[in-house]
Amino acid sequence: MTSQSKIEVAALRKCFGDLEVLKDINLSVEPGGVVALIGPSGSGKSTLLRCINLLVVPDGGRVRVGGDSFAFGTGTRLPGVKELARFRANTGMVFQHFNLFPHMSVLANVMEGPLTVRGLPKAKAEPLARSLLAKVGLADKADAYPNKLSGGQKQRVAIARALAMEPEVMLFDEATSALDPELVGEVLAVMRALAKEGMTMVIVTHEIAFAREVADRVIFMRDGVVVEEGPAQQVIDAPREAATRAFLSHFHKRGEAPAATA
Ligand SMILES: Nc1ncnc2c1ncn2[C@@H]1O[C@H](COP(=O)(O)OP(=O)(O)O)[C@@H](O)[C@H]1O
Ligand SMILES: [Mg+2]
Repeated sequence: MTSQSKIEVAALRKCFGDLEVLKDINLSVEPGGVVALIGPSGSGKSTLLRCINLLVVPDGGRVRVGGDSFAFGTGTRLPGVKELARFRANTGMVFQHFNLFPHMSVLANVMEGPLTVRGLPKAKAEPLARSLLAKVGLADKADAYPNKLSGGQKQRVAIARALAMEPEVMLFDEATSALDPELVGEVLAVMRALAKEGMTMVIVTHEIAFAREVADRVIFMRDGVVVEEGPAQQVIDAPREAATRAFLSHFHKRGEAPAATA
């Protein structure tokens, strides 16, 4: 494992019952690196992201984010509740469905993590939340309730909420897949800006054109293994593996809409 990378995953394995979902996954992301994870449905992309922030406990291998490292498998000790909470707080996750608290204002949603998990006083949590809402273009929605927002706005709140934990890395799992097409762009714009700022990110996406533009590297997964990985433009424009070519043939490379879902 190289010590200068921000995320290291080594020999990662995960089974659900008899189903081996991740088979010896290795990946590293350097500080400020942006990796796009692509592949057909069921290939293990979500499970891999969930293993990186330990929402799913791996069966074997190692996961490191920043200075925190855990090993899994025979002879290892599972992390305790506090260690897990600290680890997860350092790894912001944005899901397809936003899961905002419906009974709380946008501002309160973003302040919740800093107040309850990080133990910040309100006097610090509120300006932090307001600055993050400004960053995602929603300063004027601080007092609104989630049910008054569009899907794109809700997802931008979810991004602000994840950023409010001041994580070292951000993980996005199909953050735009549930959005109406006309709302995808505003969320991708926020993700693009974060990448430009130097946030270390792993992005599971079917937005191939976005992956090509924003990611440094693309990883193509199928059936729990990394089939191909390389510089984004090389993997997308000139994939080496037949399986990658077959998957990418379902998408318009530079267009907006996929020709078919994979
Ligand atoms: N909690 C779970 N229990 C059992 N099987 C699961 C669970 N989560 C995912 N799987 C299975 O693991 C495989 C990989 O799923 P997933 O990581 O969601 O793939 P992807 O995100 O690439 O679509 C699928 O076959 C899925 O059905
Ligand atoms: Mg998934």
